[in-house]
Amino acid sequence: MTSSRSLDGQYAVVVGGSSGVGEATAALLAADGAEVLIAGRDEGRLEAALGRIGGKSSGRRLDGSDPEQVRAFFAALDRELDHLVLALSGGGGSGPISALHPDELAAGFDGKFWPFVHILQAALTRLRPDGSVTFVTAASARAAFPGTAGLAAINGALAAMVPPLAVELAPLRVNAVSPGVIDTPWWDQVPTERRAELFEGLAATTPVGRVGRAEDVAEVIRLLVGNTFMTGTVIDCTGGVNLPTGR
Ligand SMILES: NC(=O)c1ccc[n+]([C@@H]2O[C@H](COP(=O)([O-])OP(=O)(O)OC[C@H]3O[C@@H](n4cnc5c(N)ncnc54)[C@H](OP(=O)(O)O)[C@@H]3O)[C@@H](O)[C@H]2O)c1
Repeated sequence: MTSSRSLDGQYAVVVGGSSGVGEATAALLAADGAEVLIAGRDEGRLEAALGRIGGKSSGRRLDGSDPEQVRAFFAALDRELDHLVLALSGGGGSGPISALHPDELAAGFDGKFWPFVHILQAALTRLRPDGSVTFVTAASARAAFPGTAGLAAINGALAAMVPPLAVELAPLRVNAVSPGVIDTPWWDQVPTERRAELFEGLAATTPVGRVGRAEDVAEVIRLLVGNTFMTGTVIDCTGGVNLPTGR
């Protein structure tokens, strides 16, 4: 495989591809010629996303937190995989450490860290040796936002795995993108008015003056998928919100 713009003939799985960053990534990969399989838990969300993604895309239900389902999902693939993108969102593990019950933190690991590990392990049997794996981690892992120690632990654990995996699994390439605040359906859990206020406040403290869009992160993932000279890197896509201020 050479460093090339086109992904014609290549096959990619995007777990968490039915919304937000994963969906935007699937759309970019499909637009550049890849055959893309998106995975997520909800059939309706998968169908709706496929309508927006277009190209050679298909969907299959998968709960990444169920190791049996994960094994069966990859065993059932009818061809070798060129690229795996892990964009599922998980949940849990945020809040001030004084109030964070260990069970909530453990649930946070169960929602994101362990699914990433199980999916990677199951996918290894189907990934081409010269393919790629891209993790979506989070800026909390490389910042100092109060109330995010748990999220930093979960996403930091994933980010820490990237360099050793890149060497251990070579020539398979392993990278990650670390997003800041991105306006995706993940934030639907915050009431609309409160969310608008929150985003406005965050935009004001971000050097680029706005929160991110799913496409901002997808473009970084597209680069990591296609650039065959990149491995072992974790790229920030944060609008600069996590830059050290020295305060
Ligand atoms: N949005 C942000 O501000 C932000 C910031 C930093 C990092 N991130 C990270 O970016 C990634 C993408 O987040 P997003 O904002 O795009 O979230 P999103 O819009 O909520 O999309 C999450 C996707 O993950 C799927 N998913 C969730 N749990 C799953 C599971 N157990 N198994 C399989 N699929 C599952 C969802 O589909 P179903 O619900 O149907 O399963 C959906 O397709 C996540 O890893 C998140 O932690 C996001």
